[in-house]
Amino acid sequence: MAEGIGSRRQGGEVGDQYDPLGRHLDNPERFQQCAQRAMPIFFSSRLNVWVVSRLADVKKVLRDGQTFSCANVLRPLTPLSPRVLPILLAGYPLVPVFRVMDGEQHRRQRQLWADGFGPDQLEGIRGYLTKRATSLAEDMIAGKRPAEFMAAYANPLTISAICQMIGYRPEHHTAVGEDTAKAAALAMGHLFLSDDEQVEAAQSWVQCQKLIGRYIAERMVEPGDDLIGEAVRAYAPSGAPVTEDQEAELVASIFGVTLAGHVTSSALLGDGVLRLLEHPEQWRLLCNQPQLIRTAIEEIARFCSPGHIFLRKTTRDTTLAGQELPAGAEVAVLLAAANRDGAAFDRPAELDITRRQRIGHVTFGYGPHFCLGAGLGRLELEISLRILTERLPTLRLVPGQPSTSRPWLAQKCPFTVPVTW
Ligand code: HEM
Repeated sequence: MAEGIGSRRQGGEVGDQYDPLGRHLDNPERFQQCAQRAMPIFFSSRLNVWVVSRLADVKKVLRDGQTFSCANVLRPLTPLSPRVLPILLAGYPLVPVFRVMDGEQHRRQRQLWADGFGPDQLEGIRGYLTKRATSLAEDMIAGKRPAEFMAAYANPLTISAICQMIGYRPEHHTAVGEDTAKAAALAMGHLFLSDDEQVEAAQSWVQCQKLIGRYIAERMVEPGDDLIGEAVRAYAPSGAPVTEDQEAELVASIFGVTLAGHVTSSALLGDGVLRLLEHPEQWRLLCNQPQLIRTAIEEIARFCSPGHIFLRKTTRDTTLAGQELPAGAEVAVLLAAANRDGAAFDRPAELDITRRQRIGHVTFGYGPHFCLGAGLGRLELEISLRILTERLPTLRLVPGQPSTSRPWLAQKCPFTVPVTW
């Protein structure tokens, strides 16, 4: 198919062309728009999954956890190198986390964490985040121009935020950030270019697990009032030692929430600032009218959609977008495409920070697995937009240095965002 013209075979030519980690990595929009119009469901021969992109179909999948299971949501893009498993086995046993669970089991496990990211906890972290964001902005201003926004601001702010909320001490924030960023490749549908890259990701994974194990041991002796302490108490309410299996579950869930809390928020913050600066009239508007920050947050979330493509697996025969699917079929939902569905959003390809959306976007997911940290992600963006527009109103992209995205299926995140002011 010349991109733009419908294919005649359900999932045939369109699916063969779809290359989300190759030629559609940095600019998937045109392909997605065409597929959405002409082929709402197609089979991707590269990913070996059925792909849906219309908002209504994406919501249908995400809402119905009984038919569309999360069991495969963290599966790697390609089988991992045989060198990886021994490294992972030297860490904590690989137990399922609530991210891959369904139904009642998922609801129970998720609840242990959900309260920790509620409105009171977010208000509690606002002061810390404002201070940290201010100091990072000041360091950037005092430093050399041009600066690289991901390294100077987006990564350190988001890792501090999640670490502070969970209960890691400040001296561990940087290491946790580096390890989770590398380890994330194993769970984000990363296109690995070498075995060595996989080995490094696995080593970081285990290193971070071991650090979490030490925190759990500390909290067993001295219960703290942070989220690690609360998680330990939930497993061992009477102060009895946790079993090995419980310890493995605790490590896995603390690690999972840390990783999810860091990498996706830095993607939203980095890509959000990148897109605003690519539309300088929108950046100026925000600088002149900071009262627009609230609507800007939702529009940036919709437009950037850092949670890009998520997987599900059918538990029974079903029909999706007119296509019959057998039990066991894998389905990918294109959140980013759904957020630009012309049937749901006027001028979907336009970034307009004054937009009032009549239908909700799916940037933070939908249904039972709706993002646990959506409030934290929004808060980080709110505080950052306020501080950056106040202190760096002349912020702009460095000409001639285009940003490229990480080759991750589950997430769209720029490697670097070179800025000056
Ligand atoms: C700020 C940008 C963020 C975006 C765009 C984002 C996006 C998403 C999306 C789309 C899902 C649903 C995935 C699916 O249904 O398969 C999700 C789930 C999740 N998110 Fe986020 N997230 C963000 C930040 C955070 C933060 C700060 C945390 C920290 C707590 C977090 C923790 C989680 C967890 C634990 C889940 C799984 C929930 C479950 O399985 O019940 N996320 N996120």
